Amino acid sequence: MRRVSIRTITIAAATAAALTLGNGVADAAATPGAPGAGDVYFPDYGNGGYDVGHYDVRVRYQPATDELTGTTTIAAEATQDLSRFNLDFALDVSSVRVNNRAATFHTEGEHELVVTPARQIPAGSDLNVVVKYAGIPSQVVAGGFTGWTRTADGALAVNEPESAWWWFPSNDHPSDKATYDVSVLAPDDVQVISNGTLTSGPTAELKGWNRWYWRSVKPQATYLTYLAIGKYDIETDTAADGSPIINAFSTSLGDFDGAARAGINRTNEIIETEEQWFGDYPFEAQGGVAAPPGALGFALETQTRPVYDGRFWRRGGNTYVVAHELAHQWFGDSVSLEQWRDIWLNEGFASYAEWLWSEHEDEGTPQELFDFVYASYPADDEFWQVLPGDPGSDKVFDGAVYDRGALTLQALRVQIGDQAFFEILHTWLADHRYGNGTTDDFIALAEKISGQDLTQLFTTWLFTAGRPDLSATTKLAR
Ligand code: ARG
Ligand code: ZN
Repeated sequence: MRRVSIRTITIAAATAAALTLGNGVADAAATPGAPGAGDVYFPDYGNGGYDVGHYDVRVRYQPATDELTGTTTIAAEATQDLSRFNLDFALDVSSVRVNNRAATFHTEGEHELVVTPARQIPAGSDLNVVVKYAGIPSQVVAGGFTGWTRTADGALAVNEPESAWWWFPSNDHPSDKATYDVSVLAPDDVQVISNGTLTSGPTAELKGWNRWYWRSVKPQATYLTYLAIGKYDIETDTAADGSPIINAFSTSLGDFDGAARAGINRTNEIIETEEQWFGDYPFEAQGGVAAPPGALGFALETQTRPVYDGRFWRRGGNTYVVAHELAHQWFGDSVSLEQWRDIWLNEGFASYAEWLWSEHEDEGTPQELFDFVYASYPADDEFWQVLPGDPGSDKVFDGAVYDRGALTLQALRVQIGDQAFFEILHTWLADHRYGNGTTDDFIALAEKISGQDLTQLFTTWLFTAGRPDLSATTKLAR
């Protein structure tokens, strides 16, 4: 409820007068929301003009044909006077309603849905959007790829930096995080796994079909919102703090099944270990999903419950990938990117967590791993030409973002000492918890806490091509 006092009206009138003087127009006209969120690498990802609070994604999926139908309801707030706005989406849309009125819409390019509401949306007011749609996601190519993966018995909506385009309309950029309800109606011979907690289901809804209700209650980036559909063995347990542990193992893991379970079943132990370095685990649930071997070719730190290609267990009980994806729950998921350019804030830190885990497992210290990685790339190797702090939009997952990102953190730790280093990590995670951060923010914090000018260190390690000379950083020289 809104109260209007005489004084408020007076101030509003004065503001209007000032605006008139400032820009020469009496009425500020509503304008279209920007078609991008301002990402320097991916200018058309995300949109401007509104801020999403919650997504309710409700779909039906038939693995036999890859047919997906759905309705997504978006609860957002306008951040400017909007005449129209964009969503990011690549399937066929049949209707859009905005604030209880039918809206007109058209598509632009491969993944922009342009929505014109019946009435303009004033800044600060609710923007409630209902989109109905259908499609065969695996057949839709956008941005040169398909973020939806069909498997022998189902599908995976697991990808980075994009996966939402193929199953729900969104403001598709990590700078606009929201909470989620994801509900899926699927044939009763498959399982459906998503983020957070299974609040209800599987519940028979049609003959031969079950609905699964998943909920994720902390702010979550679109690319960290996932679906794994197929034949899975789901195992549930409860952590010491009472939160649910939910693991899912594809029934097609074959010879990797035992090792996948050995790795993923250490999730809770690894979280408790990482809490000693990074502070409290930020989410309400945990677990892991072992996807069919070869289906993805990577693992992804999907919020609360990472998804791993089964092939990560081709050589036994790999825990490094688990330590990596779980570290992302702090670095990437709780504290998210504002710009994809700053991807080392995710990958460099998750890689460094593997080095900490290695020391914890008595398999080598971070300094030993620094020495090994540094020496394993000769000075003339291409590796040293990629700048972790600005790798280029085609190299956001280059090895240098991971390895040189971790080298950067060890160089920082050696220069400023353990106490300042871990205080920086804790403060970074506390200050930006459930929000976003930039490389500039991180450097400023590191300088503040260490009391040192770190310009040269970060310029050398993040932003200068070529192998850094260790004799320049005396403490790293041997
Ligand atoms: N963030 C993932 C990781 O933990 C990498 C995902 C790579 N994405 C891709 N489409 N290959 O390393
Ligand atoms: Zn990673």
